[in-house]
Amino acid sequence: MAARFFPAALGAALVVLAGVAQADPGQALFDKHCAICHQPGGVGAPGYAPPLADTVGQRLALEEGRDYVPRILRAGISGPIDTTLGRFNGAMPGFAQLSDAEAAQLANYVLGALNASVLPAGFVPYTAEEVAALKAKPASAPENRKLRERLDAALKAR
Ligand code: HEC
Repeated sequence: MAARFFPAALGAALVVLAGVAQADPGQALFDKHCAICHQPGGVGAPGYAPPLADTVGQRLALEEGRDYVPRILRAGISGPIDTTLGRFNGAMPGFAQLSDAEAAQLANYVLGALNASVLPAGFVPYTAEEVAALKAKPASAPENRKLRERLDAALKAR
């Protein structure tokens, strides 16, 4: 009886775990590509990679703010930035190898899940088509830092 019960329980547990892991494809992509630097859940690591949780969603209150995370996914970001974990002056590589659909899923996880508490009301999830259309706008790591500066100055002035 016990010998039959335990494998069944283990099997059920694995099914539950697999279900959790697959629940959000954006989270799976984040854990694969981003968590090594930004840490699981995007809490950041002092001196190494800035936090993403509850820190980047505010910028979506501005129209151009919607471009920010997809542009960083494509081209990275470099140069000094001030964050809730202090100042960073590093360089993050872009992830141009991601498909538009993957980039949209990642942006939806970083913003929709990790920044849910600071997102402006009515957040509309990104689609692959929107991410593809953004490619018409040039992006580079130093320009993305300038965009960050512009957005934060505009938010402060509000
Ligand atoms: C090799 C380490 C590394 C990896 C991997 C990485 N990042 Fe970064 N990321 C950084 C660093 C370092 C910075 C800050 C760069 C600077 O100082 O300008 C940064 C900055 C950012 C920012 C801007 C944060 C802010 O405060 O405005 C976002 C958004 C971001 N990363 C998202 C991601 C996502 C999403 C992924 C996965 C696809 C990812 N990063 C993968 C190291 C990394």
